[in-house]
Amino acid sequence: MVTVTIDGKSIQVETGTTVMEAARDLGIEIPHLCYHPELSASGGCRLCIVEVEGRAGLEPSCQLACADGQVVRTQSKRLSQMRREVIDLFVSDHPLDCVICDKAGACLLQKYAYEYGVSETSYDLEVSRSLFQDDNPFFLRDHKYCILCGRCVRVCNEVIGADAIELAGRGFESHVATPFDGPMIDSSCIFCGSCVQVCPTAALMPVSRRGKGREWDLDRIKTICGYCGVGCQVEYALKDSRILYAQATPDAPVNGEFLCTKGRYGWDFATHPERLTTPMIRRDMAYELGLTDEPWHLPDASPLAVQQPKIEDSFVPVGWDTALDLVAQKLADTVKENGPDSIMGLASARCTNEENYVFQKFMRAGIGTNNLDHCARL
Ligand code: SF4
Ligand code: SF4
Ligand code: SF4
Ligand code: FES
Repeated sequence: MVTVTIDGKSIQVETGTTVMEAARDLGIEIPHLCYHPELSASGGCRLCIVEVEGRAGLEPSCQLACADGQVVRTQSKRLSQMRREVIDLFVSDHPLDCVICDKAGACLLQKYAYEYGVSETSYDLEVSRSLFQDDNPFFLRDHKYCILCGRCVRVCNEVIGADAIELAGRGFESHVATPFDGPMIDSSCIFCGSCVQVCPTAALMPVSRRGKGREWDLDRIKTICGYCGVGCQVEYALKDSRILYAQATPDAPVNGEFLCTKGRYGWDFATHPERLTTPMIRRDMAYELGLTDEPWHLPDASPLAVQQPKIEDSFVPVGWDTALDLVAQKLADTVKENGPDSIMGLASARCTNEENYVFQKFMRAGIGTNNLDHCARL
């Protein structure tokens, strides 16, 4: 263990802890662009520089290991001046489109440009990357907003293991590239969207949110992804009660900032116009029970015809009480006629553990059968 003092506050940390990490433990935020707590430090942006007592030069805190007795300052006039210079260099190669940019309000470059008062570059503006790639249904790659922080490359390599992208070219030619700059679909990308999640600027953005609203106009709701039993936490950004995009949050206990393709992009069913919102009973049965005056007949658009039938041709919407009474009656009749083992229960990975527990209890104690399985095993 070593003890360091940062901005007058002392902390004991494991040997090998960086000054950036120790500062975060103390609740001190050091400005950063290329650093991300889940990724290796690349030391590329130089915004996280700090002063270390006894050393003349400035050190990037994301790569500086804490040493016993070290005294560090994260704020000073000199540091502010240097950070302003770093941001000035970034915006000399970046269109400051914040007024029309979907990322405004959630962009780290904008945040630091604001905090350090950099409204324009003092150099000749030269935006060297102009590629705009709209080659997949999930995210857009707008290279003019890329600051080459490399977060996307590192997350893809270190966390996802897909190695779909790499920093290619040199100098002004540098850019994030798929093999041979081909479409994303031809790379090893699995469309997890983790690169979009960690990108600090508008260089990677979900297709679904483009032009649909500013960050501060969006409501946010945290929930649990319904797709599998892992139970990842997901945060939906909504406009007018419709989901615009999904992301994970650093404090999510199971998944941190990461989601798979289904959790990140498979949410359109939630407000899909064809989503069922009420129980439905087969029309022939509903007619028998007196719930509809219209008898069932083979719809013109039946499976025997070329077109798929419409759901309302074959089903009648009913209330929950009616639907549950009917199911209970049918189950009871079946047990009476054919015994409890004539029934089988299949539980869902979309339910919670508690719901699945209650379901197996119902099957075993209520119906009287051990014929039970779970879709996660299929
Ligand atoms: S990416 Fe950030 S800095 Fe660039 S235009 Fe958008 S909000 Fe502004
Ligand atoms: S979506 Fe996932 S797999 Fe594809 S490039 Fe981004 S991080 Fe890599
Ligand atoms: S695309 Fe985003 S995360 Fe990747 S290097 Fe550019 S700015 Fe960084
Ligand atoms: S955050 Fe440390 S060098 Fe970029």
